[in-house]
Amino acid sequence: MRDFRWRDEHEVFLAQIDAEHRDLFGIADGLQQAVAGKATAAVEEHLHALIAHAEEHFSHEEWLMQSVKYSSYGWHKQQHNTARRRLKLFAPLIESGESEAPELLLDFLEGWFRDHISVTDRMMAASVRNYERANATSALERWGTPADASRGRTTAAETGPFPAIRPVL
Ligand SMILES: [Fe+2]
Repeated sequence: MRDFRWRDEHEVFLAQIDAEHRDLFGIADGLQQAVAGKATAAVEEHLHALIAHAEEHFSHEEWLMQSVKYSSYGWHKQQHNTARRRLKLFAPLIESGESEAPELLLDFLEGWFRDHISVTDRMMAASVRNYERANATSALERWGTPADASRGRTTAAETGPFPAIRPVL
């Protein structure tokens, strides 16, 4: 079995992002258990939850990066897009009962979570913290401000209410 347990070493030290990562690990673990138990309805339920939470989470990180004018935004978003494509590719295969598809998706998720969070998200988080320290601001204060529209990116208004969705107390 793949290990989707949340550990302190997964922290990127941005409370909202860590909370969302924890949710994603939990959903992936639930998916793995449903697959192992051949619980078709639960597999579909977890798959849909995974797709929805991943998209919401990626949008939040992308807004956060734009709000601090993060220089590696494009590189980071490319990695999100790879995961988006994989989820889009695997979802119909899993729903149609393709026997190897759930295992292949879980293998992908295990590696992607590990590599993306440990390097890419940590770099983003360090940059966000530096920006917030230097500018005495926080994501909550910046929320609602327009993103960098001049570069043709998604605007904050399009990505949804980031800090309000799952406030971390
Ligand atoms: Fe990310």
